[in-house]
Amino acid sequence: MVITLIGYRGCGKSSVAPRLAKRLGWDWADCDIEIEKRCGASVRDIFQHEGEAGFRTRESEVLEDLLSQPQLVLASGGGSILAKGNRQKMRAAGPVVWLQASIKTLARRLSGDGHANQNRPSLTGKPIHEEIADVLAVREPLYRETASLIVDVEDTRPDLVAKRIQEALMPVLPQERKA
Ligand code: S3P
Repeated sequence: MVITLIGYRGCGKSSVAPRLAKRLGWDWADCDIEIEKRCGASVRDIFQHEGEAGFRTRESEVLEDLLSQPQLVLASGGGSILAKGNRQKMRAAGPVVWLQASIKTLARRLSGDGHANQNRPSLTGKPIHEEIADVLAVREPLYRETASLIVDVEDTRPDLVAKRIQEALMPVLPQERKA
């Protein structure tokens, strides 16, 4: 079973995934890091050389591999829900958790996250607030449709988000820890 965290850039997927995995005694992975490892290039470079379409193809391939692993918490890329096949595979692999935050909070977190942002190519070329509003308008219905659990992460630290997810998923998780 794979627990997939979905949501817009800056919602905290990569911070929550290791914390949730630790609580469960599971492994965790970050789809962007895995893509970079396999391609030997940064996300920004892949966007630059292969365009967003090239990146999305690589993302779907890596996602499919990761979704077949046992007992994994997966931090997906913010746009991985755009492909219908990805959404179906996430749902088939286990619970899908949408970390939901307001445009204001996402913009604040993304503006303050200097290092990570150097590796986040612009999706529209627009200023951050406008970009989030435009992109979220398209993605929100897809996050909602894919999620089996929605967690409000507004003003909530990653530790607490992980705890809430664990509590909410308790009834559907296998009880044994990973050997
Ligand atoms: C993207 C989000 C990024 C990364 C790429 C594209 C997006 O992942 O996959 O820059 O389209 O929202 P994070 O959500 O982990 O930043």
